[in-house]
Amino acid sequence: MNFDIKILLVLAIIVEVFAIAVFEPPGSVFVQQGYRGVGIQQVYQPKAIEKAIAENKLPDAIPAEAPAGQLSSAVYQNVQVLGDVDANEFLRLMNAITAWVAPEQGCTYCHAEDGFASDTLYTKVVSRRMLQMTKHLNQDWKTHTGAAGVTCYTCHRGQPVPANIWFHKPALVQAGGLTSYRTQQNAPMENVGLTSLPYDVDTNYLSGEDQIRVQGTHALPYGNRQSTKQTEYTYGLMTEMSKALGVNCTYCHNSRAFADWSQSSPQRVTAWHGIRMARDLNHNFLEPLQSVFPANRLGPMGDGPKVNCATCHAGVYKPLFGQNMVQDYPELLTVSAAK
Ligand code: HEC
Ligand code: HEC
Ligand code: HEC
Ligand code: HEC
Repeated sequence: MNFDIKILLVLAIIVEVFAIAVFEPPGSVFVQQGYRGVGIQQVYQPKAIEKAIAENKLPDAIPAEAPAGQLSSAVYQNVQVLGDVDANEFLRLMNAITAWVAPEQGCTYCHAEDGFASDTLYTKVVSRRMLQMTKHLNQDWKTHTGAAGVTCYTCHRGQPVPANIWFHKPALVQAGGLTSYRTQQNAPMENVGLTSLPYDVDTNYLSGEDQIRVQGTHALPYGNRQSTKQTEYTYGLMTEMSKALGVNCTYCHNSRAFADWSQSSPQRVTAWHGIRMARDLNHNFLEPLQSVFPANRLGPMGDGPKVNCATCHAGVYKPLFGQNMVQDYPELLTVSAAK
């Protein structure tokens, strides 16, 4: 064999070994979900799973108290959401939300010196709406939040501002003329997996309600009016969703027929409800709070913080691996009766 060819062969082997090492680290675990041979499987790295398990431990529940025998509305002056809760349970919940949302700051993160009943701080006004949102999530979105349910901790994890929130993204600064029309592409962003896909997908799909439909069911143009641009946006959203859940496309789809529901996993149905739920949270809770937030909490386009899949999921297929926290705080399970 010619010397050059030998060198080339050695190089090719090195590249191959490198590619295998980079894309499928040794020790990867394959979990098959669908029929054999259809490629419906997930690839997990045990190290990453160990790390995720450590990051998704539940804080201990505060021990239950003997009831005071009096409703908080009878004891306190300004309880608009939790008025139907026993007064002792009410204070237990105040301790819990302090631990979930503002453990370092304490009660004064939401309560000013002018007394517990006053609504001076914006954080208290936001929290009251958050209480309503949490109850709504547990009562009205069982199609998505199901068995696990949601508490403030699902999103906040011991921080006043959840780690994963989003704002409308400004257009990128670029050259003029024809090149200035970039339709948000070729600017690798984390949320779309550093691909060239359009990156502001949340604005279109989780605040706006654009159709997430692109695939024709026939080989030739046949009644499918969707454009290439819409397709790219859809793939951008799908990549963002996959990242938020730490899964790949085949967690929900059979990749030979992405559009076909009859060949999709049950998780795709849960995800479908999740998309509607995220829109509901943004439209009816987060967006209306925009004027309550101070300027330093608004995004570069002046809009308020909003929710997407990662806000709750944080890279895991079920937030906190599906552990149920809300069972220890039953007052968060149902929307209070109107007073
Ligand atoms: C993350 C925000 C937040 C934190 C932290 C917080 N609270 Fe509250 N607190 C609220 C909200 C919201 C209400 C009103 C609930 C409603 O309208 O039903 C409230 C109401 C109260 C009330 C009723 C006052 C009245 O007369 O109307 C008391 C008492 C209270 N909190 C005590 C505490 C204590 C004690 C702590 C610290 C252990 C604490 N809170 C921490 C948000 C918070
Ligand atoms: C679905 C996710 C989610 C849940 C559940 C949730 N929050 Fe929030 N919360 C948010 C987002 C998003 C923001 C906006 C972040 C910001 O303030 O910049 C926010 C903001 C807040 C703020 C304002 C913090 C600041 O410094 O600006 C407080 C206080 C708060 N939430 C309290 C609560 C309480 C109390 C609960 C439970 C009753 C709760 N949240 C449940 C998502 C959530
Ligand atoms: C967590 C579940 C989930 C994951 C993961 C997921 N998808 Fe989807 N996908 C959906 C849902 C739900 C819809 C339908 C959305 C709707 O109609 O609101 C959808 C729609 C689509 C469509 C449009 C089909 C049509 O009807 O035209 C395509 C294409 C698609 N996904 C591709 C992908 C690709 C590529 C990936 C991986 C990068 C992916 N999906 C990952 C849940 C998922
Ligand atoms: C308010 C918090 C929250 C948000 C936002 C959220 N989810 Fe979920 N999701 C949950 C909870 C809680 C569960 C677990 C339910 C259970 O235990 O049955 C879940 C479960 C799921 C599952 C089922 C996983 C399985 O293995 O069965 C899928 C798929 C999913 N979510 C997709 C999404 C997608 C896609 C989005 C964004 C469009 C999203 N979720 C947004 C809270 C949320």
